[in-house]
Amino acid sequence: MRKPIIAGNWKMFKTRDDALAFIYAVVNELPSIDLVDSVVCAPFTVLRDLVKRQGENLRIGAQNMHFEEQGAFTGEISPMMLQSLGVSYSVIGHSERRDMFGETDEAIAKKLPAAFNHNITPILCVGEHLNERENGSWQDLIRKQLIIDLQNLSSDLVKKLVIAYEPIWAIGTGKTATPEIADEACGFIRGCIRDLYDQETADAIRIQYGGSVKVANIDALMAQPNIDGALIGGASLVAEDFITLVKAALK
Ligand code: PGA
Repeated sequence: MRKPIIAGNWKMFKTRDDALAFIYAVVNELPSIDLVDSVVCAPFTVLRDLVKRQGENLRIGAQNMHFEEQGAFTGEISPMMLQSLGVSYSVIGHSERRDMFGETDEAIAKKLPAAFNHNITPILCVGEHLNERENGSWQDLIRKQLIIDLQNLSSDLVKKLVIAYEPIWAIGTGKTATPEIADEACGFIRGCIRDLYDQETADAIRIQYGGSVKVANIDALMAQPNIDGALIGGASLVAEDFITLVKAALK
């Protein structure tokens, strides 16, 4: 019913030569876009090179963007600029941007409609720190993130949005949430969408799990009813692994 979506998040990895080697290795190996959305979210410096070579079955995403189209914002990249490169997705509100670069839910709330205005599908990241998981406040935290982040989006846009549940304690730590924990949180997010919008919107939105996803654990995660895909950091850097991870979504 919901098409799976597997997205790599390269973070600050890969020179231009590395990125070209990756795309030549994967481009003819990915399954049809009719069956699974395959996305690579890469550094700004290689977006154009990747878009030119993305082929039929891969789409390219950015990892962040500003909400304005242009202006005196030194060092920033706008959704209009990304659109002009042929970029199809952008990660928005990744925990590394929230925690290390002071990105706020209020800024994220402006970025989401700005992305849609430029035909860019946002992959909105939400998720809790370890202490919020341990003290039982993770649901309150995620609900609050969603209420603020989505405040400017109609249900029609939310249906096209992708949300990634990324528990911060599982990112880059090798500690994956168990499939049950990940599914419970993705189901909780779907329930919040139903409360904020309606059942139809909740049934349509695609929710990924992210945090130490790798070849060894993707099958168990994808088998869960509320998990529609994965946002993958480290393991997405290796071309053969990325192909295997995308193919796992077909099972
Ligand atoms: P990881 O990163 O797969 O390396 O844990 C996931 C993410 O940050 O999106």
